Amino acid sequence: MTGKLEDKVAIITGAGQGVGRGIALAMAKAGARCVIADFNEESGQQVVGELEGLGSEALFVRCDVTSRESVDAAVDRTIEVFGQLDVLVNNAQRAPLSPTSVMEHTDEIIDLCFDTGFRGSFRFMQAAYPHLKASRGKVINIASGAGLDGLAGQSAYGAAKEAIRALSKSAAREWGRDGINVNIICPLANSPGVATLLELAPEMEKRMTANQPLGRIGDCEEDIGPVAVFLASDDSRYVTGHTLPADGGNSMVR
Ligand SMILES: NC(=O)c1ccc[n+]([C@@H]2O[C@H](COP(=O)([O-])OP(=O)(O)OC[C@H]3O[C@@H](n4cnc5c(N)ncnc54)[C@H](O)[C@@H]3O)[C@@H](O)[C@H]2O)c1
Repeated sequence: MTGKLEDKVAIITGAGQGVGRGIALAMAKAGARCVIADFNEESGQQVVGELEGLGSEALFVRCDVTSRESVDAAVDRTIEVFGQLDVLVNNAQRAPLSPTSVMEHTDEIIDLCFDTGFRGSFRFMQAAYPHLKASRGKVINIASGAGLDGLAGQSAYGAAKEAIRALSKSAAREWGRDGINVNIICPLANSPGVATLLELAPEMEKRMTANQPLGRIGDCEEDIGPVAVFLASDDSRYVTGHTLPADGGNSMVR
């Protein structure tokens, strides 16, 4: 495949479905070889099949971002198979399935949000750093409007996403001279995760789009994928530490 990401190798965590899958499809169409790092083997293998169907090389690695061993093994396996790593997308995240008030949050819920999103991104960035330094690569971390603006019912999730942004900005400052760019996307898209949330709390859909200029929930591949391709490609070589909402204008970062 030819395109903006020709000869690049990308790890995308949580790419067995939703936004991660959309990013993988868009990156593969732009020429990248993608590593699907997900703890769900069935859906992850399905995405690998889809990418191979496009004529792209792809690899599934069963990986739990809450385990440092598992994260290190995923990076090692990527290097073993493809010999390089150019792009890391930290997308895997868990959150309460239905809105949970601040007062209802348990330590388990807070740990779930931080251990998947924040610590998972931290672990992957540490494991990937030497390889990204060698390739002068890119990190794309996925945050959320729930953190940028706050979201009733998702306080720990929003806080974990803001912690990811803080980590990203510090890493952008530390790693800039190594030629590594670190940027953040805040998506809004019709993933299976969002579909479940809307089934349990249908009133959320109005809240998601009521004040949004474009007035619709985006598509994981068509609306989020190209933004990730831009941040993974040399087109964004002078952009780092930045948050780019791909959310129809829901959040406007100052
Ligand atoms: N979809 C949206 O509108 C939206 C809005 C804001 C932010 N986000 C963020 O975008 C990212 C993707 O969201 P989504 O809606 O596609 O989610 P989703 O729930 O549909 O998919 C998440 C994927 O991550 C995987 N995963 C979960 N825990 C994991 C772990 N411990 N190790 C490895 N893989 C794991 C799951 O198996 C699944 O494939 C998340 O970071 C989410 O917070 C999404």
